[in-house]
Amino acid sequence: MNDYPPISEQLSDLESAQREGRRKMDWAAQHMPIMAAIREEFEADQPLAGERIAMAMHVEAKTAILVEVLADGGAEVAVTGCNPLSTHDDVSAALDTHENITSYAKRGVDDQGYYDAIHATIDLEPTITVDDGMDLVAAIHEDYPELIDGIVGGAEETTTGVHRLRAMDDDGALEYPVFAVNDTPMKRLFDNIHGTGESSLASIAMTTNLSWASKNVVVAGFGYCGKGVARKAAGQNANVIVTEVEPRRALEAHMEGYDVMPMADAAEVGDVFITTTGNRDVIVEEHFEVMQDGVLLANAGHFDIEIDLEALNDLAADRYEARDGVDAYELADGRRLNVIAEGRLVNLAAPVSLGHPVEVMDQSFGVQAACVRELVDNGEDYDAGVHDVPDELDRKIAEIKLAADGVEFDDLTDVQREYMGSWDHGT
Ligand code: NAI
Repeated sequence: MNDYPPISEQLSDLESAQREGRRKMDWAAQHMPIMAAIREEFEADQPLAGERIAMAMHVEAKTAILVEVLADGGAEVAVTGCNPLSTHDDVSAALDTHENITSYAKRGVDDQGYYDAIHATIDLEPTITVDDGMDLVAAIHEDYPELIDGIVGGAEETTTGVHRLRAMDDDGALEYPVFAVNDTPMKRLFDNIHGTGESSLASIAMTTNLSWASKNVVVAGFGYCGKGVARKAAGQNANVIVTEVEPRRALEAHMEGYDVMPMADAAEVGDVFITTTGNRDVIVEEHFEVMQDGVLLANAGHFDIEIDLEALNDLAADRYEARDGVDAYELADGRRLNVIAEGRLVNLAAPVSLGHPVEVMDQSFGVQAACVRELVDNGEDYDAGVHDVPDELDRKIAEIKLAADGVEFDDLTDVQREYMGSWDHGT
């Protein structure tokens, strides 16, 4: 047991924070038809009654709707952040008013506070975990192995979390089933591409008040997130340069019409650098040494290790806050390299950041909620390890969204279905 306090014991002007948080959540809820449909079903069926859910996610308005829907479905929920800078304290406070929810998320906590809050959610002795980055699964396996027998399973939101889980699974160390929510079409093709693209660029523009038009924008990594960032930057008249380490992804970027080059060359010509690799040390000292005065450096990958800020700090003769959310590192020769949101994921951690657009998160969280229900209904069917989300669950979320948007689409005829399932119709 640790005695880390919930947010309601940490804020001074609690009531006004709760009101503002509720207002943000109501706005999000209005634009989340999938979560509205799931809430209706959960309220009626109470499928999660008796479950205890620990969650470590970006605690802002959209996530709060997922947390609330799980609690309305009968679960007791303890939630905290998955990044020290992405929590909205007012939303966290509003969540904490729900009788089934305790929220420990607080913006700006230090490492100790961050992990104390994770441990506080685990004190709930969860039967289900919902993670964004896998910190909860890691903490449970390291520090609370005695709880594992009581855990039906978990769900993981992001690429980095799924990578870590698969590495753990390969080592035989993952001891309960976890759904790779990130890998579903309903998540990856919308959240990673459109969500990261739109919200990263919007956050950088709002934080700096600078234009994209005519800038050389270097996108490191041409995966799902990188494709979104590149496409949206090009759509705002930037010249996009892509760096990659995977030949097919580099070729894809080349065929899309972007310039592809090593970071060593891109560093000399870029105006804005956005890392989306999920890897570490992507922009390092040799790159800082050749960058132009005034460049912007931002990271949209999960952890703050893509830009080597320690090396930049060592190189810098001076460092100061140039704007809210922008740290200028001034080098001995007078060049200023501007780091946004401390190199943490820019669409969530800059002071003005709001995370992904609401509609996009409606889809991702629809899949999350469906996975939690699947664990409760059929958890015994899944062995320890990483699991793909059953395709019919993902399809159902797409159907709810299409119906909500009034979009009709075709269905296979019986003849077509039979043809697609056969192997004996040749030329
Ligand atoms: P992905 O695996 O599809 O793409 C990553 C790409 O980076 C790959 O093509 C890989 O070859 C490339 N790469 C790896 N090391 C590199 C290096 N040193 N230089 C250049 N390229 C390199 O992954 P995805 O889905 O695009 O996610 C990327 C990261 O973004 C992950 O950390 C993920 O968790 C995070 N993420 C962030 C979101 C946000 O809201 N900011 C939303 C979704 C994911």
